Amino acid sequence: MFQMILRLLVTFLWLILISQSKLDSCEQWIKQLGDLDFFTEAQIRMVCMHQKEWVKDRDEEAGKKFLEVTTDNQLKYLRHVEQCTRENCVREARRKKRAPTKSIRKEIRMMSPAELRNLGIAMNGLKNRQIDNITAWDLHTLVHYPDSAPGAHWGPAFLPWHREFLRQFEIALQTEVPSVTLPYWDSTLDQGLPEEADSVLWTDELLGNGNGYVKTGPFANWDTNVLMPLSQIPVKKLYRSTGGREQDRLMTPKDANWIITRQNFSQLTFCHDKTFESMHGLSHVWVGGFMYVIRVSPNDPTFYMHHAFIDNLWEKFRQNSQTREEREEQWATKNCNSNHGFDVQMKPFTIQNRDGLSNQYTDEWYEYQPVRHCTIEDATCDSNFYWCDMKTWRCRSRVVYGGNCTGYEGTQICYNSVCSQGKCVVPPRVRSATKSRIEDGNLSFKEKVWAKTVLLDENGKGIEDDLSRIVITDLVTNQTQIVFHSGETVFPEIPGTVYLSLPKPRAGKMSRVSLEARDQFGRYCQAQCMNSTSERYQVCQPFLNISLNSEISSPVSFTHSMSSRTFLNLDLSVHPRQMHPEMPYIVFVCSRKLVTSAMIKQAAEVVRAPTSTENYVFFRVAVFREESSNYQIEVSPYSDVGPIFSSSIEKAASAFDPNIVYVQAPNPELHKEGVRVRVSILSNNNRVQCQVKCTEKDGSMHQCDGDVDLHSDSTLSQEDVFTSDPHSLPVLGWNMKGHPSFWRHKMPFLSFHC
Ligand SMILES: *[C@@H]1O[C@H](CO)[C@@H](O)[C@H](O)[C@H]1NC(C)=O
Ligand SMILES: *[C@@H]1O[C@H](CO)[C@@H](O)[C@H](O)[C@H]1NC(C)=O
Ligand SMILES: *[C@@H]1O[C@H](CO)[C@@H](O)[C@H](O)[C@H]1NC(C)=O
Ligand SMILES: *[C@@H]1O[C@H](CO)[C@@H](O)[C@H](O)[C@H]1NC(C)=O
Ligand SMILES: *[C@@H]1O[C@H](CO)[C@@H](O)[C@H](O)[C@H]1NC(C)=O
Ligand SMILES: *[C@@H]1O[C@H](CO)[C@@H](O)[C@H](O)[C@H]1NC(C)=O
Ligand SMILES: *[C@@H]1O[C@H](CO)[C@@H](O)[C@H](O)[C@H]1NC(C)=O
Repeated sequence: MFQMILRLLVTFLWLILISQSKLDSCEQWIKQLGDLDFFTEAQIRMVCMHQKEWVKDRDEEAGKKFLEVTTDNQLKYLRHVEQCTRENCVREARRKKRAPTKSIRKEIRMMSPAELRNLGIAMNGLKNRQIDNITAWDLHTLVHYPDSAPGAHWGPAFLPWHREFLRQFEIALQTEVPSVTLPYWDSTLDQGLPEEADSVLWTDELLGNGNGYVKTGPFANWDTNVLMPLSQIPVKKLYRSTGGREQDRLMTPKDANWIITRQNFSQLTFCHDKTFESMHGLSHVWVGGFMYVIRVSPNDPTFYMHHAFIDNLWEKFRQNSQTREEREEQWATKNCNSNHGFDVQMKPFTIQNRDGLSNQYTDEWYEYQPVRHCTIEDATCDSNFYWCDMKTWRCRSRVVYGGNCTGYEGTQICYNSVCSQGKCVVPPRVRSATKSRIEDGNLSFKEKVWAKTVLLDENGKGIEDDLSRIVITDLVTNQTQIVFHSGETVFPEIPGTVYLSLPKPRAGKMSRVSLEARDQFGRYCQAQCMNSTSERYQVCQPFLNISLNSEISSPVSFTHSMSSRTFLNLDLSVHPRQMHPEMPYIVFVCSRKLVTSAMIKQAAEVVRAPTSTENYVFFRVAVFREESSNYQIEVSPYSDVGPIFSSSIEKAASAFDPNIVYVQAPNPELHKEGVRVRVSILSNNNRVQCQVKCTEKDGSMHQCDGDVDLHSDSTLSQEDVFTSDPHSLPVLGWNMKGHPSFWRHKMPFLSFHC
């Protein structure tokens, strides 16, 4: 036994030692070789972690031999794009017998609307083109896997490999739409914005939303070739989490300048100096989702635009620091490993690494159109997505309507809006025009039920704005309806509550809807659903199935009653002071960044019932009696705290359950000592001898005399269930959390059998 413990201890210490030494060697490495100035420790660790993962993948998957499992058609396609140039493969150029022109690669924000549209068409073309059992897009992604491309990363072949990879991809795009060229994403334009994820880049007009599932823009709802690695949830759709973590960082103008001004090729390669490849990696990490994991990152179109920028910087270095000859001949003196040699095959392509240095790429095939920065003489920029920052005389990306522009008031930073008090906003006139435009075409489901959801902002606070909204699409009839936030929240609603109008499920049938939520600025809100296993909110697809059968229904609380909907997700079978609304099953987070499950739950936890100041409360008494009886019920307080309540039972009974009678008593919140009342049943002013039973909180029943204590302290209150809100009477005593088939009713403290 002792020996075993000792052995465990030794193993444990040894593990600590090696993990420590690995970490140290990683940091040591970078400290020695890199310009530490550029990275924080967390960033260095991030790079090391990614390198380790990739090398592990490369070695573990080396046996898979990618090219051997591809089918003949797939191989033919890949060989074809490799052998293609714009001259011999892009049909239109040949047909029109024009001299093949170079592709002009522009910053994505400099593309015209028509160019953007064509890019979307070409990319979707590749995504939809099946080659045997895989799409052309996914085939390009597989080329980037470490087992097929062991020399694509962490060494001198990194730059030439990706140059060739992009060239082939651009050719593939041009086979779809001949005029298309690959844009680049100059991330230095986004870097340093008050909130980088608020850049106009991540909107419907450009790359689509960055907060979770990509649901807007040209790549909305794209399938990916694999499940997203490292994810807790099974995600096989395009997914991002832009700017999501502390250590994330985009490239700075200083980074770009450092790259361009190196003196030789070695200095840009990982075995000599980790700086350039690490900078590149941190932008991947910043985008998150599929981009986070090198292997699968070409699933996101952002990959190609980011790499075009890296290639652009490399080309600037070539032009700036190398002669024509050096560009084709200079290689790193250290190669890291055999995949990175000068004369080694650039797997899985048939060319060699050295071929990727050819001047032909930018002489004949493509060139980069630079971003023109603004000057004192000409304070303009070349795109409506840019603005001129006169502090630095640089053109920078605009910030989306609703985004954070703190510190830039009075500038042109906001896209289609103005910067006021740190936020990009529009004048009220424009706002109200927006509202009536959205409301146009609003339909209403004929027969519906109501459910609740909540819209939250970047701080996890409910959005209290009557322009925030949800488009509900009935997936059976394709009918849509828009619902808005009512503009005012009253307890027990959680701030930001929106009522979902859902097509009513019929017996044995299921209603199915999809939801698209937008905040008051029109920004896409990502759905998060409660995972009952982990008890956490997680990003989810915004679909609901509604059925009377809880087994096939989404676990949503719903009701057909307009007056009861306020009380959905609430337990009304507890003392009013213990009444806390529960976050609905599905909520929407309208932030450019993902928020945590804890933040979402917090939004409900802070909701407290206001202390009631009404003179009276209502509570329930069960009265089982002959149907024909014409009884009265009377509630008389013991001390002098209020008048006697008296009513005909018929009148006071619940519309749904004639045995439940609502009666009135002085509000215990106003009486420190509590309120004791005696309840009696009368017939023609004579007391009726009924059997009286009391149900304790533990469910036990005993004979009693009709007295009941109501108290503001639950432990002193015999009857816990009371309210001063007459609207809640129909649902008083019900626990309305979860699917309606799970709702339970609590017996009143007093029951009379007459
Ligand atoms: C396509 O089919 C091949 C051969 O049957 C198989 O090895 C491969 O895993 C399949 N790929 C996908 C993405 O289904
Ligand atoms: C806006 O950005 C500034 C600077 O990054 C930050 O301090 C501030 O908290 C942000 N405001 C909001 C509302 O997120
Ligand atoms: C590259 O330039 C650096 C800085 O001038 C120099 O120290 C290094 O020796 C050069 N490497 C090669 C391979 O020329
Ligand atoms: C949408 O239309 C329905 C029925 O016409 C109406 O009840 C509802 O209030 C409308 N919603 C909005 C937000 O205008
Ligand atoms: C709803 O739209 C989908 C896709 O647009 C279509 O396939 C389906 O037939 C439509 N259903 C109805 C009932 O119109
Ligand atoms: C819920 O969470 C558990 C544990 O984290 C996970 O295994 C499961 O896949 C999640 N469920 C869904 C529907 O994502
Ligand atoms: C809704 O039901 C459909 C059909 O049964 C099923 O494919 C889908 O996964 C369900 N969706 C949800 C969110 O439960």
